[in-house]
Amino acid sequence: MKKILITNCLKEHISTICEIDKTSSDYNWTENMFTEELENKNSFFKVLFADTKIVGYVIYHIIIDEAEILNIVIDNDFKRQNLGKYLLEKTLNDISKQSVKTVFLEVGEKNIPAINLYLKFDFKQYNTRNNYYKNGENAILMKKTICSI
Ligand SMILES: CC(C)(COP(=O)(O)OP(=O)(O)OC[C@H]1O[C@@H](n2cnc3c(N)ncnc32)[C@H](O)[C@@H]1OP(=O)(O)O)[C@@H](O)C(=O)NCCC(=O)NCCS
Repeated sequence: MKKILITNCLKEHISTICEIDKTSSDYNWTENMFTEELENKNSFFKVLFADTKIVGYVIYHIIIDEAEILNIVIDNDFKRQNLGKYLLEKTLNDISKQSVKTVFLEVGEKNIPAINLYLKFDFKQYNTRNNYYKNGENAILMKKTICSI
């Protein structure tokens, strides 16, 4: 069995993160965007390891009592092994330890795996944004109320 570990993202992880992003997500970020997250004091950038291999990541912001999940990605070779669920559960657990009341996110309306994942964690749709993504796809806006620990 693999040892699963979540750590803070470091500069030296960025090239692997970019590679995973390119191969395993339809909503790609530039290297600069990832690097800026490392410098943003409101940003939490976490890397998921299976043994010594990076297999996913999550980026979220916390500002006062609101959090926003900007991205969560699992490497194609490791999808459907409950790792997305694990990473989101740990993320929400960490968020609930802060004074956050609501967690927001945006997801492509055709991104069924991600929508299903968020529904599992009780995120509710509250709005849409037309033509939000480069490919013209609409975004679904979801939020979840947090009971802080
Ligand atoms: C969304 C994502 C992170 C899920 O990661 P994952 O490790 O494969 O997901 P898990 O194995 O933990 O599955 C969790 C739940 O997600 C849903 N899900 C995952 N893959 C799915 C698929 N291919 N089709 C339908 N539902 C799916 C299911 O509800 C699943 O629960 P179940 O196994 O009890 O049915 C992954 O598909 C991914 O990296 N997608 C590309 C990046 C992306 O679009 N991220 C979202 C940005 S808003």
